[in-house]
Amino acid sequence: MTGAERPRLLVVGGCGGLVGRAVLEEFAQDWSIRSLHRHPVPAETRAGVEWIAGDAATIDDWNPLLNGVDTVVNLAWYRNGSERRFRRLAEGLLRSLRASESVGVRRWVQISVPEAPVALETRLPYLVWKRVVDRALIDSALPYVVVRPTMLFGPQDKLLTVMLRTMARYHRFPMFGDGDYHVSPISVRDLARIVRREANGSERHVVPAGGPKRWVYRDLTDRLFAAIGRPPRYFRLSPRGSVRLARLLETFGSDLLYAYEVEWLLSDRLGLAPYAGLDRPLEPVEAFLDAEGARYRRAPSGR
Ligand SMILES: NC(=O)c1ccc[n+]([C@@H]2O[C@H](COP(=O)([O-])OP(=O)(O)OC[C@H]3O[C@@H](n4cnc5c(N)ncnc54)[C@H](OP(=O)(O)O)[C@@H]3O)[C@@H](O)[C@H]2O)c1
Repeated sequence: MTGAERPRLLVVGGCGGLVGRAVLEEFAQDWSIRSLHRHPVPAETRAGVEWIAGDAATIDDWNPLLNGVDTVVNLAWYRNGSERRFRRLAEGLLRSLRASESVGVRRWVQISVPEAPVALETRLPYLVWKRVVDRALIDSALPYVVVRPTMLFGPQDKLLTVMLRTMARYHRFPMFGDGDYHVSPISVRDLARIVRREANGSERHVVPAGGPKRWVYRDLTDRLFAAIGRPPRYFRLSPRGSVRLARLLETFGSDLLYAYEVEWLLSDRLGLAPYAGLDRPLEPVEAFLDAEGARYRRAPSGR
């Protein structure tokens, strides 16, 4: 396929983050990609991506960026920050929506997040402004899809990979409450496949996206210990103690775990049903855990 025949994708947030790297792998072969983000990403250069260096929060005129674009995928968001930081990014994204409507973008894909407890939905800037963008897209004239994946796993992710590393280092792990809430981790490669499928579709809808298995959280952490070849050992924290621990980490500037992430987990809203519709089975998390865990497993003692 020549460059002229390829559909053109604008990736807001670019292809350097967890989801962006998988989107690049999924689309680079047969789409032309333009990306907007702030820091250089060598893999984009190698793949011939057109990088527009910029901050989505400060772009006033989106029209030049949207020129010739068929589909927009938005990945830009922060994991933490002030009300002002989220508001400014949301306002930039709202400007991009209005411009996309006026130039007639064919498809708009927003990567969002699952439902959270009401207290977080109504007070946490991370969620309040995310929902402002989600709703503006849904209320727009654009052919949209809002994908809401649960916990993602993939190379260099910030959750399961970090949990494995922590378990390998300390041989113990905190258990938040009794651990009987659920999670259904989904592979970031599957999310990129979903984005592709949804980008080619025409339905205007909101799509929850869980992985193939709904785990009891405690069983998943046991499986993480198994992946590094260690018996599961926990120090148990009450739900309140768990949130307090995460807050304490935040106070010391750690980005290991945020208090809102613990509250979300404890609220039992992250065990989404598997996404149905890919032409192949969703990737199980076990193979990923075993491959990552192999870095930490001790070599069997010789002879
Ligand atoms: N990770 C998960 O488990 C998970 C689960 C559910 C949903 N999501 C959603 O999926 C999306 C992508 O998440 P991710 O984990 O891939 O995040 P990530 O690794 O932090 O990547 C986000 C990318 O956005 C870019 N970006 C951030 N602020 C920007 C701005 N103001 N202007 C332009 N680009 C900006 C960053 O690139 P530069 O630094 O180069 O600008 C970064 O590479 C987010 O919307 C997130 O909420 C993630």
